[in-house]
Amino acid sequence: MNKIEANAFVLFGGTGDLTKRKLIPAIYNLYIDNLLPENFFVASVGRREKTEDEYKKELEDAIKKYSRNSFEQKKWDKVSSRIYYYKLDFAVEDGYRDFDSYLKSLESIHETQGNRLFYLAVGPEHFATIVENLHKNSMTKQSTGKKSVIIEKPFGKDLESAIRLNEEITKVFDEENIFRIDHYLGKEMLQNIMVIRFANAVFEPIWNSSHIDHVQITSSEQMGVGDRAGYYEKAGALKDMVQNHLLQFLSLIAMEPPKKISTESIRDAKVKVLKDLQIYSNEQVYENVVRGQYGADNEANIKAYRDEDRTDDNSETETFVALKLNVDNKRWKGVPFYIRTGKRLKYKGVQAVIEFKPNYPSNYNEYSGNIEPNQLIIRIQPQEGVNFRFNAKKPGEGNDILPVNMDFCQNCEIGYNSQEAYERLLLDAMKGDKTLFTRWDEVMYSWKFVDAISNAWRKEKPDFPNYNPHSFGPDAANHLMERDKREWVNEL
Ligand SMILES: NC(=O)c1ccc[n+]([C@@H]2O[C@H](COP(=O)([O-])OP(=O)(O)OC[C@H]3O[C@@H](n4cnc5c(N)ncnc54)[C@H](OP(=O)(O)O)[C@@H]3O)[C@@H](O)[C@H]2O)c1
Repeated sequence: MNKIEANAFVLFGGTGDLTKRKLIPAIYNLYIDNLLPENFFVASVGRREKTEDEYKKELEDAIKKYSRNSFEQKKWDKVSSRIYYYKLDFAVEDGYRDFDSYLKSLESIHETQGNRLFYLAVGPEHFATIVENLHKNSMTKQSTGKKSVIIEKPFGKDLESAIRLNEEITKVFDEENIFRIDHYLGKEMLQNIMVIRFANAVFEPIWNSSHIDHVQITSSEQMGVGDRAGYYEKAGALKDMVQNHLLQFLSLIAMEPPKKISTESIRDAKVKVLKDLQIYSNEQVYENVVRGQYGADNEANIKAYRDEDRTDDNSETETFVALKLNVDNKRWKGVPFYIRTGKRLKYKGVQAVIEFKPNYPSNYNEYSGNIEPNQLIIRIQPQEGVNFRFNAKKPGEGNDILPVNMDFCQNCEIGYNSQEAYERLLLDAMKGDKTLFTRWDEVMYSWKFVDAISNAWRKEKPDFPNYNPHSFGPDAANHLMERDKREWVNEL
């Protein structure tokens, strides 16, 4: 296990939503679990004028609201004594010189040995500017301690911009010191997929096209866009969810066993899946990809997406996408993968369903009742666990068959207070462990796949809005399954 290094955690976007809802609560919880290094401090950068006391009061309120561990004044006092606020407009190059001197003074107090972990919790349009300005002001020199950068999603807005961004960042940091965050990878059950597959003799031998009928992945939200429309208008469900989280989820389900349980072997196995994704022509996109946008529910007082704050009255941004895709390799030949994600849907939850082929002897038709296909359901959130559906004899006389469930609920057993994704990821970044971060080639192949869809969409005007709040999305998403004589599993 890598050692956790002494670290200065330099947080750009210190007044932002992500910082308050996830990052500072993660640091507080890591402190409570005694996982932070002894020599550690947080330097938060914000644009607004505020005193350190005002800033810490805001963070205290955020801890009370968002932390999984309840607020304890004494513990918070210890954590907050290591948090500093610095006002800097990060577009202004000159400001960095003074900031560097300020960091150096904190480094000597906290003895962090010049190690700096820069976290860019800012809009993607600022990533390159910050990295460039850090570099111009000699703040990223490896000779004076280890310097790493954590970059939030989205990494670019298409393949071309992602390549440009990557070029800018790799001029300053080696791939070794770049942590591209996809917080789904920090989720406990995503990490469990490899164990379920490779540590159970019953699954791996049948994890292929001879035995699997199809795979379906759903990520469903009940909330609307909320106050994130400024960002979401430019992204939409395809780029916000599919390009990163859901393709990462898929790559863990579909990958070959890694040669070794090591960071690079696991990433090699995942990238191979992304490379094998069939890239669609425009016609294939129209046939296999459905987009949607939620309308209003006046009775429930729910606004249509187009009427939300900061959205365009004629917005063509999709808040829903469902698609069928192929992984073009021997293991998955002829096995479709279906993905669906959206906002303002009926349920909240993320899961994958692996449905097996009905390979039972033909005389089993003599049994009455429902023989249903076996399904392995991997639940990521809010419930974490695994459910296996199989057929059993109905108790009593006769030959009736009854589908039953074997259920492992992880967060029922150990309670809901398990480590959150951002805690795990911050800790890994401090240790220098990159297994749960995306490598550049993974980002690149994901964009290649997604670009083909957005390019085809640009050529056609969508008929929005096309689904009601609290539904399962547009009817066309159901047709995508029905035409293949399949159906979505809607219990989440
Ligand atoms: N929020 C989430 O749940 C979430 C989830 C996953 C990923 N992300 C990603 O995380 C990143 C941050 O998202 P967010 O929701 O936290 O955004 P946000 O609430 O809009 O925060 C942006 C931050 O950037 C600062 N900022 C903007 N321009 C600046 C400038 N010129 N100089 C100095 N500071 C400046 C803002 O400072 P002021 O407050 O002073 O303007 C604020 O601290 C984005 O890349 C987003 O895609 C967010």
